Amino acid sequence: MIAELYQKLDALQREIEASAPASSEELEQFRIRFLGSKNVFKPFFGEMRNVPNEDKRTYGQRMNELRTIAQKRFDDAQAELKATDSGAKSHDLDLTAPGRPYQHGSRHPVSIVMNEIIDIFSRIGFVVAEEREIEDDWHNFTALNTPENHPARDMQDTFYLQANADLMLRTHTSSVQARVMTTQKTPIRIIAPGRVYRNETVSARSHCQFHQVEGLYIDEDVSFADMKQTLYYYAQSIYGKDVKVRLRPSYFPFTEPSAEMDVYWGLKDENDYRITKGTGWLEILGCGMVDPQVLINCDIDPDKYSGFAFGMGIERQAMLKYRINDIRAFFENDVRFLRQFSTAVI
Ligand code: DAH
Repeated sequence: MIAELYQKLDALQREIEASAPASSEELEQFRIRFLGSKNVFKPFFGEMRNVPNEDKRTYGQRMNELRTIAQKRFDDAQAELKATDSGAKSHDLDLTAPGRPYQHGSRHPVSIVMNEIIDIFSRIGFVVAEEREIEDDWHNFTALNTPENHPARDMQDTFYLQANADLMLRTHTSSVQARVMTTQKTPIRIIAPGRVYRNETVSARSHCQFHQVEGLYIDEDVSFADMKQTLYYYAQSIYGKDVKVRLRPSYFPFTEPSAEMDVYWGLKDENDYRITKGTGWLEILGCGMVDPQVLINCDIDPDKYSGFAFGMGIERQAMLKYRINDIRAFFENDVRFLRQFSTAVI
């Protein structure tokens, strides 16, 4: 009799192993048959009392084993069904649905203005020169007529490298002048855009890092008039044909004579009074004729060659162009600020 029970259980095992519920209905039928409250094993438990005592243990184990097999088959089938179900869903693709909007990035205003400046000067033959941001004392100061203990060093507070006091984060792109004059042949006509650093307290008007563009033109017979016309062309290109400019005498150690160029901003409201200090004029760049001593420092013959140089802060140009009143906005990378400069995309 017990052999008969075992045979029936073997048959049930084969049935379980062969079954492959392929839908949730079939899975439910499987569950009812093998795992439900009236499952097929129930009567076999009932037979327990007819099983001889010495066989009870093995018989019980066999039934537990079958229940485990059934449960496992159920779990597997359920997992398979779930997987194919979501597989089916991904095929429910609505090809007529409108596309998801794609988030375009936008150029940083500093890059926009920098590219515009490069564009303006490349139209009149200036080529871009790029140089290192970690500079040595000679290129950043000494070659540019600012030897140690020169009071003009105080014009710019410097970040020196701890490991080597001869090295620093360049305080201006003028260091590229010295690099180019010692490595390129005359005539030279370059602009050098890039990042510069100064040990300054961060405020709405100044930052410890910003961008400059340097310009340098060296050739035979370059005059102050050439410089004036070049810078006027620049101001017109970036601020519009009607821009009013003026050159004001100034001082830089590496140029003689030196000047600063102002554009007329206007005095329409209180804000204009504040940012132009009541004059209506705003300084946009420093410039001058390259000091003959700088040419000598860089092994260029000052009797044969002359030239002019200029340097300007890019953030400053961008602030004027877009009427931004806090330089910190350029470095905070708040997308609400940056998004305003995205060009329209279709
Ligand atoms: N390097 C100067 C600064 O950072 C700017 C400058 C002034 C550059 C006059 C020049 C120049 O090339 O001729 O303030």
